Formats: sequence, C-alpha cells, structure tokens
Amino acid sequence: MQVFTKINELKNCISNAKNNRQRIGFVPTMGALHQGHLSLIQQSKQENDLTVCSIFVNPSQFNNTKDFQFYPRTVEADTELLKSVNCDILFLPSVDEIYPSPSTTSIDFGYLNTILEGEFRPGHFSGVGIIVSKLLNIVSPHKAYFGEKDLQQCIVIETLVNDLAIDVEIIRCEIMREKNGLAMSSRNQRLSEDQKNLASNIYKTLQIAQKEYTFFQNQEDAISKALAFLNTFENIKLEYLEIVSAKTLLQPSITDRKIAICIAVYIGDVRLIDNLTFNV
Ligand code: PAJ
Repeated sequence: MQVFTKINELKNCISNAKNNRQRIGFVPTMGALHQGHLSLIQQSKQENDLTVCSIFVNPSQFNNTKDFQFYPRTVEADTELLKSVNCDILFLPSVDEIYPSPSTTSIDFGYLNTILEGEFRPGHFSGVGIIVSKLLNIVSPHKAYFGEKDLQQCIVIETLVNDLAIDVEIIRCEIMREKNGLAMSSRNQRLSEDQKNLASNIYKTLQIAQKEYTFFQNQEDAISKALAFLNTFENIKLEYLEIVSAKTLLQPSITDRKIAICIAVYIGDVRLIDNLTFNV
C-alpha cells in the first residue's frame, strides 16, 4: 500500500493511473477503522482498479470540541487493517495540508441543516460538504463509497454532487453491525464493554418501532412503544427518534414506500446514531 501525506504527490499518482485507464474508487474516512469501513474498501476493490482510502479527522465538521478532542486516532492499527484488505493507497494529510489557511467557505444544505443531525449538530454538514468536495477534487475518483450508517450524510453528499455537477458516482453501502446489533462506529471504541452491551438496545429500539409501524402505520404509537422500551435504560439519553421518508428524511407521505427510522442517543458523553430503513 502506498501512503501519501501530500496532495500533489497523491494527485500525480492518480493522474498516472488514469493515463493507464485505471478506474479509481475512493473511501473517505476519519480513521479508527472497523469492519464497516473495510466493507466499503472491499466493495471499491471489487468495482475499481485502484482504491484510495483517506483518513482525516476533519475539525470543521465537529460542532463539539470535546468530541473532536476525544475522537479515537489509531493510525498504526488502521494502516494494518487497510493492508489486510489490500487497499492500494492511503491518503493521510495533516490539518495544514488540507487547510493551509482557515476555510471561509460554507455550504448551506437548506432543510437538511434543520432536521435530525442537522438540527442537533449546527455547522456539521457544511464541514462535511467542504471536506468531501475538497477530497473529491483531490482524488477525482470514478466512484466514491459512503455508508448508510450515516443516512443523512449520504443524502447531503448526493445533493452536493448533483447540485455542483461533480463528476463522480456515489455508491451507498449497507450498515455493518456487531453480533448484538450495535451499528459499528469509531465512537464505539470510547465505550466500555458494559456500555457496548447497553448500546445494543439502540438497534432493538429501532426494530420495535419498525415492527409496530409496519403493522399499524401509526407513527405516534410506533414511537411511543419504542420509547417505552428505550426509557427503561436510564443510562441511554435520547436526542431524537423519528420515523421519516428514507428519500427526503421529512414526514412520510402516503406515496412514500421507503421509510427510515432514525435515532441519536448519548451513552455517557459518547453520541451514537443509527437508522433502519424498510419498505412499506
Ligand atoms: P467516518 O465516520 O470515518 O465514516 C467513513 C465512512 O464509513 C462513512 O461513509 C460512513 O457512513 C461509513 N461507515 C461508518 N460506520 C459504518 C457501518 N457500521 N457500516 C457501514 N458503513 C459505515 O463519515 C465520515 O467518516 C466523515 O463524515 C467523512 C465522510 C469522512 C468526511 O469527513
């Protein structure tokens, strides 16, 4: 695996590969890699000639300084994991390489900024939009891979690519879970074993809401039933639990066939998100 820390060196390498008609797949990450990230790399490996993974803990997308400060950073273990799945290139830039001067640009994603993650993490999606635009410009991949674990992020990035006519195909990948149902996440590394067991109830909550909604199509009842379960765990603090259209993330209309149930909670000071999508 080749490792680049400089934009220009990575660009040269990619432009040579493109001259040789190689197809480029790209997986942007913030590191602390787990099987969820690796599944994106594996899909890119299957669909492209050259797979680039970036690891960059992007300060501008953190609305909470403690979350940024305590975000797990495990570059050595990450490098070994990437080698184990035959990732071709790792891009590991410094903050100065990416932001030589403070970025003054921001991106307004309209209503997406005001709902779910947008509502609870002000400025988050602007930061994501800027870094993803910048990385897509640097890597210029044919395909870029994103996990549905961050469903709203997928929609934000599809909007960005569409609105700005960025020449890349965005590929969504399914959520990878632990055996107990907990969605894999870098932030899980900050949980104790007991907290990880407790966190498996996040997925159970989503499943209860799904079952109830599928039978009765009544949002309020489905949310109440799911909350009655979740509220039995006093160490899980709910931020939101909503049943929405999987396409728009707004209230589902009668024509919406695909539904998403989205949740955000705190366990201690670790914020976790998850979602479940299904057809009705
Ligand atoms: P990060 O949280 O490291 O996630 C990188 C990619 O892995 C994202 O597309 C995310 O949705 C996906 N991913 C995370 N957990 C997953 C799981 N359990 N199953 C499947 N895919 C999963 O998302 C980011 O970084 C950043 O916002 C980034 C896009 C890199 C911009 O900084």
